Amino acid sequence: MSTLWHGRFDADPADELMAYTASIGFDVRLAPDDIAGSRAHARMLGRVGLLAEAEVGEVLAALDRTEAELASGDFVFAPGDEDIHTAIERRVTELAGPAGAKLHTGRSRNDQVAADLRLFAKRELAAIAVEVLGLQEVLLERAVAAGDAYLPGYTHLQRAQPVLLAHHLLAHGWALARDVDRLADARARLDVSPLGAGAVAGSSLPLDPDSTAAELGFAARFENSMDAVSDRDFVAESLFALTMVGIHLSRLGEEIVFWTSEEVGFATLDDAYATGSSMLPQKKNPDIAELARAKAGRLIGNLTGLLATLKGLPLAYNRDLQEDKAPMFDTLDQVRLGVRAMGGLLSSIVFNAAAMGSAADAPSSAATDLAEHLVGQGMPFRDAHAAVGDLVRRSLEGGGSLADLVQADPRLGEDAAKLLTPGVPVTRRTTPGGAGPEAVAAQIERFRARLDADAARLD
Ligand code: ARG
Repeated sequence: MSTLWHGRFDADPADELMAYTASIGFDVRLAPDDIAGSRAHARMLGRVGLLAEAEVGEVLAALDRTEAELASGDFVFAPGDEDIHTAIERRVTELAGPAGAKLHTGRSRNDQVAADLRLFAKRELAAIAVEVLGLQEVLLERAVAAGDAYLPGYTHLQRAQPVLLAHHLLAHGWALARDVDRLADARARLDVSPLGAGAVAGSSLPLDPDSTAAELGFAARFENSMDAVSDRDFVAESLFALTMVGIHLSRLGEEIVFWTSEEVGFATLDDAYATGSSMLPQKKNPDIAELARAKAGRLIGNLTGLLATLKGLPLAYNRDLQEDKAPMFDTLDQVRLGVRAMGGLLSSIVFNAAAMGSAADAPSSAATDLAEHLVGQGMPFRDAHAAVGDLVRRSLEGGGSLADLVQADPRLGEDAAKLLTPGVPVTRRTTPGGAGPEAVAAQIERFRARLDADAARLD
């Protein structure tokens, strides 16, 4: 078996070593980025005179052919292809002969893999941000369609104050807006080319890292070769930004589980986005929502696993860093699938405005409005809170309906009792950013503008 290091070694690698250390099983996914990086590196070698023009042409032609073989599935992996970098360089050398053997001049797999993964992350983080925007669009559409439907807003999962359904949906939308920000921010910070750093210290050859950086579309080149080959902050940061999306999906998932439970009945899933039971014919289960809840745990595992890998690693490259890719790929895939599944679920879910409204119309939901009515008459809020609390307690103890007690109370009376009319309390949430109709209408416009701005920024 031919290895990249055969000159120094008498024996071939043991099968167990290859089985344990090879990364080709997963890093084949970096092939397009490895090819792009190799093209830029070969052209740079040509510009600085390390490859003749004809040699650059031969290497580029071999890279084109290798790319086509990988894309079509015709590429034949050799037993020594421990990773995608080795496989591509091996094939280029087979195809281009001596010119191919010059491709790795002034390059190490250490700067190469870091460049590949940054190119990959730049593309994928942008693509995921666009997917998140799609989910936000669904939330916006459903918020607009929700009109004046309202439901209880909960604290401690106890009914607190009625809120418009649109307000509740957009609360999730704004959380996702911060995720889009974080993804864009992580992407901007990782936009640095490590090519030219070599194994650890750069090279004696006249490399031009600025030109490879520019050719690959990176915003900058590395400042320090040791940092360039050992930095995996960008993976950790990408994983955090993605994990936060997953955690937001899990919180949305928990709402869906709650809303669609038979006890609550605020919403019904479309058949295409629900599952049945193998034994219980009547069941319709919210499996997407449950898996959104569960997969957040897996994403957290990927993030904390990578942080544990990085902790205490000495500079610069260590093979430990190869363990960055599996969590990156898995987290990206799971978040993408989750965002899409949740988008489909939310665009087709049927809300039951009557069930939501009647849960929100319990007279005690207007307790704060009664207290604020008293505040309007000059009563200190603490006293108003105590007075209304006393009425709620008397009502619960069988002293009459809250409406009757309010009516009979000289401090409250007729006007205050009107506040208990179904549908009235939610209209009184007028604070900018609050849950009432006027504030929510303004919020919808601001959310729409934010989506448009983010879409333009990601374009
Ligand atoms: N497969 C390796 C990785 O993913 C590539 C770099 C190998 N470098 C080395 N010095 N063995 O990290």
